[in-house]
Amino acid sequence: MRTFRAPGRVNLIGDHTDYQDGLVLPVALQLETRVTADLGGDRVRLSSDSFPEEVDVAADGSDGPTGGQVGWGRYVAAVTWALAEVGRPAVGMEGTVASTVPAGAGLASSAALEVAVAAALLAAAGTEMDPLDVAQACRRAEVEGVGVPCGIMDQAVAVLGSSRGALLLDCRSLATDDVPLPGSHRLVVVDSGVSRELAASGYAERRHETDQGLSAIKVDHPEVSSLRDATLDMLDGLPPPLRERCRHVVTENARVVEVVRALRNRRLDIVGRLLDHSHHSMAVSFAASHPDVDVLAAELRTIPGVLGARMTGGGFGGTVVALVETAEAEGVAAAVAPRRAWVAQPSAGAGEVDT
Ligand code: GLA
Repeated sequence: MRTFRAPGRVNLIGDHTDYQDGLVLPVALQLETRVTADLGGDRVRLSSDSFPEEVDVAADGSDGPTGGQVGWGRYVAAVTWALAEVGRPAVGMEGTVASTVPAGAGLASSAALEVAVAAALLAAAGTEMDPLDVAQACRRAEVEGVGVPCGIMDQAVAVLGSSRGALLLDCRSLATDDVPLPGSHRLVVVDSGVSRELAASGYAERRHETDQGLSAIKVDHPEVSSLRDATLDMLDGLPPPLRERCRHVVTENARVVEVVRALRNRRLDIVGRLLDHSHHSMAVSFAASHPDVDVLAAELRTIPGVLGARMTGGGFGGTVVALVETAEAEGVAAAVAPRRAWVAQPSAGAGEVDT
């Protein structure tokens, strides 16, 4: 038996920017998904510690992107298919999946599963792939096998995450940069308990609205290929709510740049303020928050030692990330009970676990 892992993530800032070629600043977490399997054979057979369905698909991807699977099995089938599409030799495995990444909480449990399965499948085939190609294949798996039109952030940080801190990812060039987090502060990650899977359609709708806004901008500005290139004055002629949706994306990209600068200058006060602004933008301009999440973020901001808080990830529920003085971090996590909370420990990207 061999074991492979991939981490979940919390996104410090830069949400709903990745699919518009924008900037994101995620942190790979200690929460992770593990695949433990005997490698070999021509089937991919996996069971899960959390879900009843068992997966059984052809290792050569010939069962297609969904593989006739339901629930979590679709992710396994889709990754098997997507890796076959890029030439992975058809060697299977048989084993189990275990995860500490809560599902539907906005902490990228899907990407952790996809990338952990991909790591195991590549080892089974004795093949190596460029990490970003693994991320792209896993993203394609989610889009075509599961039907979520996601960007590249979650899969990219699941392969490239670093224990040194956050990963600045330019989703256009796919260039990355380490952004260390200072020892004086921690990120506290709090699950609101509002499962975003219940409102999964909101994600696709918002993405579609940004595309509609982009098409309208292109009429006067054909040189703009994504909202990454748009400026605020280009949004003036857009009808509501497209103007507001695009305003979020344009201002969020600018906030990512400002947060990186503030972290490098040790201006944690500025980082905290930008997290609050980002939450406001997600809630008001992007209309992607949830009343319970707004209450949680506001509650966190009143706790001593908290510098700022924002919803993280796709939205419509899920998790809030707070920037907290290190001495107060455990206390803040305890103060939001009975909600589940973690003090983030930045972690490495996917790989084999020494057992
Ligand atoms: C989900 C998607 C990502 C990204 C975020 C929002 O996590 O999988 O690609 O779009 O939402 O930033």
